[in-house]
Amino acid sequence: MTIEDRQPRVMLLIPSASYRAPDFMDAAQRLGVEVVVGTDRQNPFNDPATGRIVALDFEHPDHGANQIEAFAVLHPLDTIVAVDDGGALLAARAARRLELPYNSVSAVEATRNKALLRERLAAAGLPSPTFEVHALLDDPRPQAARLEYPVVVKPLALSASRGVIRADTPEQLIAAIERAGRILTSPEALEECGAPLADRVLIEGYVPGIEVSLEGLLDDGRLRVLALFDKPDPLEGPYFEETIYVTPTRLPAAEQQRVVETAEAACRALGLVDGPVHAELRLNDAGAYAIDIAARSIGGLCARTLSFGTGMSLEELLLRHAIGAEVDSYERDARAAGVMMIPIPSAGTLRAVQGQAEAEAVSLIESVTISIHPGSRVVPLPEGSEYLGFIFARGETPEAVEAALREAHGRLRFDIE
Ligand SMILES: Nc1ncnc2c1ncn2[C@@H]1O[C@H](COP(=O)(O)OP(=O)(O)OP(=O)(O)O)[C@@H](O)[C@H]1O
Ligand SMILES: [Mg+2]
Repeated sequence: MTIEDRQPRVMLLIPSASYRAPDFMDAAQRLGVEVVVGTDRQNPFNDPATGRIVALDFEHPDHGANQIEAFAVLHPLDTIVAVDDGGALLAARAARRLELPYNSVSAVEATRNKALLRERLAAAGLPSPTFEVHALLDDPRPQAARLEYPVVVKPLALSASRGVIRADTPEQLIAAIERAGRILTSPEALEECGAPLADRVLIEGYVPGIEVSLEGLLDDGRLRVLALFDKPDPLEGPYFEETIYVTPTRLPAAEQQRVVETAEAACRALGLVDGPVHAELRLNDAGAYAIDIAARSIGGLCARTLSFGTGMSLEELLLRHAIGAEVDSYERDARAAGVMMIPIPSAGTLRAVQGQAEAEAVSLIESVTISIHPGSRVVPLPEGSEYLGFIFARGETPEAVEAALREAHGRLRFDIE
């Protein structure tokens, strides 16, 4: 049977810890595509009516790709979409086997290994901080004595700023390496990072400046910018908690241009050519620095800030791209929009969240979603990797949206024991 005879069949790779399953499933339903969910656990979803589910070996992408290949013999796949970082490498390997269009394995590998990312970007001549890998078994003192400060210590393959720690002195560096090393020994961190990358950390020169995030879509190597977000809270460490994202950016046009050119150059350097890109960049007088480039769309529930044309979600846009369906408009809704990822203020057991109705009553606030259940243990950065929830706002200006997010957050009270 050919694609013309049936609905396109999409395999969505959704790790069980992902926030993004419902939004992608909704988009698939609206589009009328047949979805097969590939995930890392048996039956993690309550609602079997939402689609077929297959458990795949995400940890060993070669084995996982075998499983997908075997599945596709009986149920041919038209495209594979990784909704998060966790499935990107598996998608690349499986797409290569099935000869489906996708980024190369080597390009995706560089987005999943921060040391490789630095090597490739520096080799292509992009503005780069100094960087070196430190093996956790080695004595950190000689390195600590030799380096110039400040630096940033980071695990090679964790996400959401987990284990990312700034150090201003040799003593702080030694403590940061120890702390990142301890984080890497936890079972979930080890699973996410993968054993071969969990015995070392990256030490980078600290790049000062403001930070923005670019949401893009690659089509045959061409980068289309879908949104540029400002991150108006200072991100100076020692931990790098993501909080507010607001689009459109308030950067002057020339600076925006520098951001876009750097992101394009970074994609070229890595060999990324197809599908979503989420890039984090820092800007200062020396230029635009690509801090992080991922072959996926924006994480958490943050994509809910975006809407294209007459109300298409980012997920629908990405699925349309993946199946080669027409996209009416890549124009983002003209209003300003923003999200606050609600940081975890302290470690303990979350007893209650109060003030949600008061926060939702703030003008321009669209919704407040609390994503952690009362009774759960909560852990702040750098050890933790979750948010308490998300606050969404939309309005005429980025300033008004940012102010609304802060006001709403101020009305929430977290009872953590
Ligand atoms: N060299 C650096 N200089 C200054 N700040 C940095 C540097 N590296 C990282 N940061 C800060 O730490 C944050 C997290 O770092 P990074 O994006 O590399 O890791 P991650 O967020 O854990 O990975 P991912 O984005 O894949 O989830 C960045 O957004 C940035 O604010
Ligand atoms: Mg990041």
